[in-house]
Amino acid sequence: MTTSDRLRTDLVAQLIADGELTDPEWVKAASAVPREKFAPAYFLAVDGSTPTSYIPVDANDDGWLEGVYTNQTLITQLAQPDGTITATDAGRLPVVGEPSSSSTLPSLVLNMWQLLGVEDGHRVLEIGTGTGYSTALGAHRLGDENLTSIEYDPVVAELAAAAIEAAGYSPRLVVGDGLLGDPAGETYDRLIATCAVRYVPQPWLYQVRPGGRILATIGGWGHGFGLADLTVTAPGEATGRFLPGFVNFMIARPHGRPPRPSVALLPGNERQSILDPALLDTWTGRWVGQLAAPSAERLGAGTDQILWDVATGSQARTTANANGGWTVTQRGPLRLWDKVEDALFLWRTAGEPHQEKFGITITPTAQTVWLETPDGPNWNLPI
Ligand SMILES: C[S@@+](CC[C@H](N)C(=O)[O-])C[C@H]1O[C@@H](n2cnc3c(N)ncnc32)[C@H](O)[C@@H]1O
Repeated sequence: MTTSDRLRTDLVAQLIADGELTDPEWVKAASAVPREKFAPAYFLAVDGSTPTSYIPVDANDDGWLEGVYTNQTLITQLAQPDGTITATDAGRLPVVGEPSSSSTLPSLVLNMWQLLGVEDGHRVLEIGTGTGYSTALGAHRLGDENLTSIEYDPVVAELAAAAIEAAGYSPRLVVGDGLLGDPAGETYDRLIATCAVRYVPQPWLYQVRPGGRILATIGGWGHGFGLADLTVTAPGEATGRFLPGFVNFMIARPHGRPPRPSVALLPGNERQSILDPALLDTWTGRWVGQLAAPSAERLGAGTDQILWDVATGSQARTTANANGGWTVTQRGPLRLWDKVEDALFLWRTAGEPHQEKFGITITPTAQTVWLETPDGPNWNLPI
């Protein structure tokens, strides 16, 4: 047994013991696909660095293979102001940047594949090939002919294609914007996205057949995320629930926040905030805030939060005040804090439930997230 085989066997055993890997078909896939082919180099964050800097490691470095077979996300590309840098050509010096491609946490990849509920013969569209690791797992389970994967970034796509081939798989690979669906217009039984979207792209709702399922993370500029399990009910229509857990993904590139000027805090209307702004630091609180102000970017933390609306330039900013409460200053056509506070208030009244108590109904004209039932409190995604 090679070291790689032994480490892979150990990781699979650990995922089974942790209850992450339960389906025998996916156990076979995880046992067969050599993850090191998909991460010949990856970035490791330098402890305590601010902003976070990263050191690339590869097969020449001690611990590289052990890292590959640790249940962790491996960052393989960083976005910098003047472009992207991949770990395979980053040199040896620390670099800074925002992660823009990775091999996702194995437990999450396998969990999502299992949640997708594929059956033999199902045709699947994957959005976000990334390193190709999840694609190879899918190809192993479904057969090459049943899997198409789309990657936006041509550099990432080229590395993934080589790795997938080296691992012995040949699913159909497309380079392009997966939010536009399969350019060949094929129909699928399942769609899985390993990048987050602000709303469900319309083409997905037509390319997945009625009765088919879509598993995708709804995210946004407020840094809230919820993993949606959708069933397509008719062309262009779907309904579903958000799932338990804490899944987040990098946002799909066309859904990224547009460039904005540096933040200038301007005067506005002041009032007392009823709720502690730190609620936006909680996993579901920030999701609820984002539902209420879907085009606002959230900056800051604790009592000092800033919401900056990308669409209108509206601002809301909170600070602690001398009374032990919080002051909010709002400016611009959208009263962002009023909306966020109303939503957070409803959520608190409902007992601060996790995303799994939320569902979503999609028609060709609206994508509505609701709490508890479709006629409960609801918010429209920014389609
Ligand atoms: C978290 S990584 C994917 C991880 C991958 N499934 C794996 O196992 O290695 C997300 C990927 O989605 C890609 N991506 C972002 N926006 C996309 C889009 N609109 N269409 C296709 N891929 C996209 C990114 O370039 C990135 O490679």
